[in-house]
Amino acid sequence: MKKKILIQTDNLCLSFPSASGKLQILNSVNFSLYENETVALVGPSGSGKSSLLMLLGGLEESDTGSIMIAGQDITKLSEDGLANLRKKTMGIVFQSFHLIPTITALDNVCIPLELAGHSNIKNRAIEILTEVGLGNRLNHFPSQLSGGEQQRVAIARALAIKPLIILADEPTGNLDQKTGSKIIELLFKLNTKNKSSLVIVTHSTDLANKCQRQVKLENGKTNESKR
Ligand SMILES: Nc1ncnc2c1ncn2[C@@H]1O[C@H](COP(=O)(O)OP(=O)(O)OP(=O)(O)O)[C@@H](O)[C@H]1O
Ligand SMILES: [Mg+2]
Repeated sequence: MKKKILIQTDNLCLSFPSASGKLQILNSVNFSLYENETVALVGPSGSGKSSLLMLLGGLEESDTGSIMIAGQDITKLSEDGLANLRKKTMGIVFQSFHLIPTITALDNVCIPLELAGHSNIKNRAIEILTEVGLGNRLNHFPSQLSGGEQQRVAIARALAIKPLIILADEPTGNLDQKTGSKIIELLFKLNTKNKSSLVIVTHSTDLANKCQRQVKLENGKTNESKR
């Protein structure tokens, strides 16, 4: 059976102005993601991995090219249309957590559920926080949590709505190896359980090898390798 395509970019270009002229970061990138797939996005520092992830998440704008997500070209959507698609289909895990510091772990996880219009918000938030091992930290504020715990809250927040697509930018970049491995295990386990697809930016060969495909960004272009 042919697999359904969730993300397809076509000739995606991104540049930034700089004092020494235009910096071409992505130069006609064609990237695809299928359902139930795990893809590692690798490449040297500065090659544009985070930038590409932000474009896929609709959090940055490309210069030219299209980004089809679940059948819609997000480069043509209004702000509202984009926010609507994002809150229903995507979970984003940022490298530096991005938790809201003034509210508890539980409230941080409730926000995307509220935005997506779920019912039983609190129950679902407690359920997913328990799944990531934080059932006893619900009312802690981010500053009262360790780095690994904050990253687990960030994962719970991204996965609470059971998104079709999970975009994770070096989700273990700030953690010790043991905690990092546990978090990766968790991310893969929940990804399988929810039947979502995962794009994970990483510098770790071990982690990249755990994914079904590896896409390497270099000199503005993608190079693909299958396991
Ligand atoms: N807002 C911006 N303005 C100017 N240049 C930018 C901007 N954002 C990113 N860049 C440049 O784009 C390039 C790609 O950045 P990006 O963060 O995507 O790299 P990366 O592959 O994620 O690197 P790393 O592995 O170090 O995280 C970098 O050279 C960076 O300086
Ligand atoms: Mg990066």
